[in-house]
Amino acid sequence: MRSDIMTTAIKYQSDFNEHINFIKKEYPNISEAINFDKVEELIKFIVENNLEVTDFETEFEDTRGSSYIKAQEEVLVRSKGIEGIMKLFSEDSMEKLCEKTILDLLGGNGLIFKVVQTLFPTSYRPSIITSDISKGMIDNALNNNILAIRQPAQKLLFKDDSVEGVLLAYGTHHIPKNQRLETVCEAKRVLKKGGKLIIHDFEEGGPVARWFSDVVHPFSLTGHDFPHFNKEELEQYFYESDFKEYKIEYLYDPFILIGETEKEVKNKFTDYLLNMYGLEKLIDLYPNNMSNEKLFEKAEEIFKYNYEDLNLYSDFGKEKITITLNNNKFHLEMPRVAIVGIGVK
Ligand SMILES: C[S@@+](CC[C@H](N)C(=O)[O-])C[C@H]1O[C@@H](n2cnc3c(N)ncnc32)[C@H](O)[C@@H]1O
Repeated sequence: MRSDIMTTAIKYQSDFNEHINFIKKEYPNISEAINFDKVEELIKFIVENNLEVTDFETEFEDTRGSSYIKAQEEVLVRSKGIEGIMKLFSEDSMEKLCEKTILDLLGGNGLIFKVVQTLFPTSYRPSIITSDISKGMIDNALNNNILAIRQPAQKLLFKDDSVEGVLLAYGTHHIPKNQRLETVCEAKRVLKKGGKLIIHDFEEGGPVARWFSDVVHPFSLTGHDFPHFNKEELEQYFYESDFKEYKIEYLYDPFILIGETEKEVKNKFTDYLLNMYGLEKLIDLYPNNMSNEKLFEKAEEIFKYNYEDLNLYSDFGKEKITITLNNNKFHLEMPRVAIVGIGVK
């Protein structure tokens, strides 16, 4: 290790060890699945790849963790897609889901865990282990009594063959292209035989990728210059990491917000977008509520789908942002189509 890297590593090490000791003490069951001898190697990887402070931290200027956490207070906005992901893990029988432990590798502050706790009956609930590289995200999850482990998706502390499911979702594009194959291999290593890896992201060239390049990149504090995915790339990772079987499909993954009035639901939606993507520069650019209006116009322009172009049924999802009145409440739905790869070890 170079000496500057060495100094940072030593500083980082004590912080990291404190976290690991906390997990050992508070979560002895899960500690059995962890290989603590890997800690040193993991710290070296984090420091060499400048992952000590990421875009999703909460205690540093120009990071967007705090506003991201604020957006996640609206726990169910993305629940339709998350339910879809859970169904992919269970496939044949939802009852079997409760026997599985799923490692959520880009878990943030535990949103997927919270959605499952909120919507799934106890008898269907898998055990979800939230895992993330950001200290801010992991600390927030732990402070809310959610089991959460700090580790990079590329290099895991878990033992070989230790979990039934691994999930890379809602941020897989953050993993650099040249580390994506090793991330998939690492996920496969920790999966039990017959276990499933689900990789979820959005297609290059689609509305979500355009949203990131036209809106998030210029108007968020952190910028957002990450390549998304395509079907061939996903297939290549499953093929090269030697998964027994795999398939790639589309998943309907909208934002859904509910309000008492049309105005309220529109405001909730644009506030959600501002926080979710940390669009601070847009707030600076447009005074008062103008940023909300501009954002609504931009989202309406970008989030449009023609499902037949994707070889999907025309009723796969909404074609554009729609507001409908349902049981006296206004429901706003913004369509998004994710691409998901499902591999069986
Ligand atoms: C968009 S957030 C998604 C969080 C959560 N799954 C959700 O849906 O709210 C992406 C997360 O990926 C994490 N992340 C980015 N690169 C990572 C890496 N290499 N290893 C682990 N986590 C990473 C970030 O810290 C962030 O919390």
